[in-house]
Amino acid sequence: MKKNKNLKVAIVMGSQSDYKTMKLAEKVLKNVGIKFETKIVSAHRTPKRMYEFATSAKKNKFGVIIAGAGGSAHLPGMIAALTTIPVLGVPIESKKLKGIDSLLSIAQMPKGIPVGTLAIGEDGAINSALLAASIIANNNLKVRKKIENFRLVQTKSVKKKPK
Ligand code: RP5
Repeated sequence: MKKNKNLKVAIVMGSQSDYKTMKLAEKVLKNVGIKFETKIVSAHRTPKRMYEFATSAKKNKFGVIIAGAGGSAHLPGMIAALTTIPVLGVPIESKKLKGIDSLLSIAQMPKGIPVGTLAIGEDGAINSALLAASIIANNNLKVRKKIENFRLVQTKSVKKKPK
Protein backbone atom coordinates (compact mmCIF):
# COMPACT_ATOMS: atom_id res chain seq x y z
CA MET A 1 0.00 0.00 0.00
CA LYS A 2 1.23 3.54 -0.82
CA LYS A 3 2.22 5.57 2.26
CA ASN A 4 0.64 9.00 2.63
CA LYS A 5 2.79 11.39 4.67
CA ASN A 6 0.18 14.13 4.74
CA LEU A 7 -2.80 12.49 6.33
CA LYS A 8 -5.11 14.82 8.27
CA VAL A 9 -7.03 14.29 11.48
CA ALA A 10 -10.78 14.80 11.69
CA ILE A 11 -12.22 16.10 14.95
CA VAL A 12 -15.95 15.52 15.10
CA MET A 13 -18.40 16.01 17.93
CA GLY A 14 -22.07 15.45 18.53
CA SER A 15 -22.95 19.00 19.54
CA GLN A 16 -21.74 22.58 19.77
CA SER A 17 -21.75 22.04 23.54
CA ASP A 18 -18.87 19.54 23.13
CA TYR A 19 -16.58 22.12 21.55
CA LYS A 20 -15.32 23.64 24.82
CA THR A 21 -13.76 20.23 25.51
CA MET A 22 -12.79 19.25 21.97
CA LYS A 23 -11.03 22.53 21.17
CA LEU A 24 -8.22 21.27 23.40
CA ALA A 25 -7.58 18.54 20.82
CA GLU A 26 -7.27 21.23 18.15
CA LYS A 27 -4.65 23.04 20.24
CA VAL A 28 -2.50 19.90 20.54
CA LEU A 29 -2.72 19.12 16.82
CA LYS A 30 -1.71 22.70 15.98
CA ASN A 31 1.32 22.37 18.27
CA VAL A 32 2.53 19.18 16.60
CA GLY A 33 1.89 20.53 13.11
CA ILE A 34 -0.88 18.19 11.98
CA LYS A 35 -3.61 19.46 9.65
CA PHE A 36 -7.10 18.88 10.93
CA GLU A 37 -10.74 19.65 10.22
CA THR A 38 -13.37 20.12 12.91
CA LYS A 39 -17.06 19.39 12.38
CA ILE A 40 -20.30 18.89 14.27
CA VAL A 41 -21.63 15.50 13.27
CA SER A 42 -24.40 13.95 15.33
CA ALA A 43 -25.32 10.28 15.01
CA HIS A 44 -28.94 10.90 15.98
CA ARG A 45 -29.59 14.54 14.98
CA THR A 46 -27.70 14.52 11.66
CA PRO A 47 -27.43 10.82 10.69
CA LYS A 48 -27.08 11.54 6.97
CA ARG A 49 -24.23 13.98 7.64
CA MET A 50 -22.56 11.32 9.79
CA TYR A 51 -22.89 8.72 7.04
CA GLU A 52 -21.49 11.08 4.40
CA PHE A 53 -18.60 12.07 6.64
CA ALA A 54 -17.62 8.52 7.61
CA THR A 55 -17.93 6.99 4.15
CA SER A 56 -15.89 9.76 2.49
CA ALA A 57 -13.23 10.07 5.23
CA LYS A 58 -10.67 7.90 3.42
CA LYS A 59 -11.13 9.76 0.13
CA ASN A 60 -10.75 13.02 2.07
CA LYS A 61 -7.32 11.91 3.35
CA PHE A 62 -8.09 11.55 7.03
CA GLY A 63 -5.70 9.18 8.83
CA VAL A 64 -7.40 9.30 12.23
CA ILE A 65 -10.85 10.35 13.38
CA ILE A 66 -11.34 11.81 16.86
CA ALA A 67 -14.98 11.69 17.90
CA GLY A 68 -16.23 13.41 21.04
CA ALA A 69 -19.68 12.50 22.32
CA GLY A 70 -21.69 12.70 25.51
CA GLY A 71 -24.59 10.80 27.03
CA SER A 72 -25.36 7.61 25.15
CA ALA A 73 -22.36 8.57 23.00
CA HIS A 74 -22.92 6.32 20.00
CA LEU A 75 -21.12 8.63 17.52
CA PRO A 76 -17.62 7.06 17.71
CA GLY A 77 -18.97 3.52 17.32
CA MET A 78 -21.29 4.46 14.45
CA ILE A 79 -18.45 6.16 12.58
CA ALA A 80 -16.14 3.20 13.26
CA ALA A 81 -18.77 0.90 11.76
CA LEU A 82 -18.64 2.86 8.50
CA THR A 83 -14.87 3.18 8.01
CA THR A 84 -11.65 1.31 8.81
CA ILE A 85 -9.82 4.55 9.66
CA PRO A 86 -8.89 4.41 13.39
CA VAL A 87 -11.51 6.13 15.55
CA LEU A 88 -10.61 7.59 18.95
CA GLY A 89 -13.56 8.31 21.20
CA VAL A 90 -13.60 11.11 23.76
CA PRO A 91 -16.30 10.71 26.43
CA ILE A 92 -17.73 14.18 27.06
CA GLU A 93 -18.54 14.97 30.70
CA SER A 94 -22.34 14.85 30.79
CA LYS A 95 -24.33 16.92 33.28
CA LYS A 96 -26.30 14.19 35.02
CA LEU A 97 -23.79 11.31 35.14
CA LYS A 98 -20.50 13.23 34.91
CA GLY A 99 -19.48 11.39 31.73
CA ILE A 100 -19.65 7.87 33.16
CA ASP A 101 -22.47 7.22 30.68
CA SER A 102 -20.33 8.51 27.79
CA LEU A 103 -17.29 6.53 28.94
CA LEU A 104 -19.09 3.21 29.26
CA SER A 105 -20.93 3.67 26.00
CA ILE A 106 -17.74 4.39 24.05
CA ALA A 107 -15.57 1.79 25.81
CA GLN A 108 -18.05 -1.06 25.68
CA MET A 109 -18.07 -1.58 21.91
CA PRO A 110 -18.88 -5.20 21.15
CA LYS A 111 -16.14 -7.17 19.36
CA GLY A 112 -15.60 -6.57 15.66
CA ILE A 113 -15.74 -2.76 15.55
CA PRO A 114 -13.06 -1.20 17.75
CA VAL A 115 -13.03 2.35 19.12
CA GLY A 116 -10.04 3.59 21.09
CA THR A 117 -11.41 5.14 24.28
CA LEU A 118 -9.78 8.04 26.10
CA ALA A 119 -10.41 9.57 29.52
CA ILE A 120 -13.54 11.62 30.29
CA GLY A 121 -13.42 15.29 29.35
CA GLU A 122 -10.43 17.56 28.88
CA ASP A 123 -7.71 14.97 29.61
CA GLY A 124 -9.34 12.70 27.06
CA ALA A 125 -9.51 15.44 24.43
CA ILE A 126 -5.82 16.28 24.90
CA ASN A 127 -4.76 12.64 24.89
CA SER A 128 -6.89 11.85 21.85
CA ALA A 129 -4.86 14.37 19.87
CA LEU A 130 -1.56 13.08 21.25
CA LEU A 131 -2.56 9.53 20.36
CA ALA A 132 -3.72 10.63 16.91
CA ALA A 133 -0.34 12.32 16.49
CA SER A 134 1.46 9.09 17.44
CA ILE A 135 -0.51 7.20 14.79
CA ILE A 136 0.22 9.86 12.15
CA ALA A 137 3.89 9.85 13.24
CA ASN A 138 4.29 6.28 11.95
CA ASN A 139 4.54 7.81 8.48
CA ASN A 140 5.64 11.32 9.34
CA LEU A 141 9.08 12.02 10.80
CA LYS A 142 8.40 15.72 11.50
CA VAL A 143 5.45 14.83 13.71
CA ARG A 144 7.50 12.10 15.44
CA LYS A 145 10.15 14.72 16.37
CA LYS A 146 7.49 17.12 17.68
CA ILE A 147 6.03 14.43 19.94
CA GLU A 148 9.47 13.47 21.23
CA ASN A 149 10.20 17.12 21.97
CA PHE A 150 6.86 17.54 23.76
CA ARG A 151 7.67 14.57 25.99
CA LEU A 152 11.13 15.96 26.75
CA VAL A 153 9.77 19.38 27.74
CA GLN A 154 7.09 17.71 29.87
CA THR A 155 9.65 15.56 31.68
CA LYS A 156 11.93 18.55 32.32
CA SER A 157 9.01 20.55 33.74
CA VAL A 158 8.52 18.12 36.63
CA LYS A 159 10.40 19.48 39.64
CA LYS A 160 12.20 17.06 41.94
CA LYS A 161 10.92 18.75 45.11
CA PRO A 162 7.45 20.10 45.84
CA LYS A 163 7.12 23.75 46.88
C1 RP5 B 1 -24.53 14.32 22.45
O1 RP5 B 1 -25.45 14.82 23.34
C2 RP5 B 1 -23.46 15.34 22.33
O2 RP5 B 1 -22.25 14.74 22.07
C3 RP5 B 1 -23.50 16.09 23.63
O3 RP5 B 1 -22.42 15.76 24.48
C4 RP5 B 1 -24.81 15.66 24.26
C5 RP5 B 1 -25.69 16.83 24.64
O4 RP5 B 1 -25.92 17.62 23.51
P1 RP5 B 1 -26.66 19.03 23.62
O5 RP5 B 1 -28.00 18.76 24.20
O6 RP5 B 1 -25.80 19.90 24.51
O7 RP5 B 1 -26.72 19.56 22.21
O8 RP5 B 1 -25.09 14.07 21.21
